[in-house]
Amino acid sequence: MAKQKELTRAERFKSYEHVFDHGTLRGLFKLSSQGYFDELKSPIKMGKEASVFSATKDDGLVCVKIYRIAANFKKMFDYMAADSRYVGLKKNKMAIIYAWARKEYRNLLRARSSGVKVPKPIAVFKNILVMEMIGNNGAAPQLNNSYPKDPKKFYENLISNVKKLYQDANLIHGDLSAFNILNDNQTPVMIDMSHAVDFQYPNNKELLERDIKIIVNYFNKFNLKIDYKKEVEKCIHKK
Ligand SMILES: Nc1ncnc2c1ncn2[C@@H]1O[C@H](COP(=O)(O)OP(=O)(O)OP(=O)(O)O)[C@@H](O)[C@H]1O
Ligand SMILES: [Mg+2]
Repeated sequence: MAKQKELTRAERFKSYEHVFDHGTLRGLFKLSSQGYFDELKSPIKMGKEASVFSATKDDGLVCVKIYRIAANFKKMFDYMAADSRYVGLKKNKMAIIYAWARKEYRNLLRARSSGVKVPKPIAVFKNILVMEMIGNNGAAPQLNNSYPKDPKKFYENLISNVKKLYQDANLIHGDLSAFNILNDNQTPVMIDMSHAVDFQYPNNKELLERDIKIIVNYFNKFNLKIDYKKEVEKCIHKK
């Protein structure tokens, strides 16, 4: 009986043969066999660096992010080489992409254990990350496509999470923008944590400043008149 079930699972995965390379297919099959998800449902975003899918899991959904083997690993390497957590990383393409996926998993875990609103990481294997699906019925929209009803309230919630990320999880997102923030029923959730670096990163202040400037510019379009420099100081200094 179990064998029959496995066979149908293998057959179902066969339909993705033209979408993924063999290693990725094997990884997806393994994660699914281990019970992290049942099957891929639909693509949310097919990007240059990563493809993101919704996948069924029991009665709900999880999110499966697959880093493409063709990703720009040189950029990934440069980011990691300056992060004290990745000293000694070899400049080997597959090793770098796998480390990048694990880095996102670890960053999500670290952020969550400090109470920052990010998706809960579920599993990581090679270039595949399984995480909580943000949204009620399918993926929540990016902030970029879904304006907040109360921009001031949304911003304050977001900046308090950026501060918590810095002060308690000691991380800087590093690629924060309205594309990497989901509007989950008027609650901000930061995603795409693969770039996030430890706050001991060289030029950490510039990175934090860049993140904050981008979101402040976005919210100032709603007439909020926020001074990004003051916000950076508030983030860096404890109350
Ligand atoms: N946990 C999640 N829940 C719901 N939707 C998600 C989740 N993670 C990602 N998405 C959706 O997939 C899109 C792409 O995800 P993400 O930003 O992590 O990847 P990316 O920009 O392709 O990655 P990278 O910058 O690492 O190449 C997001 O903008 C969002 O719409
Ligand atoms: Mg993104």
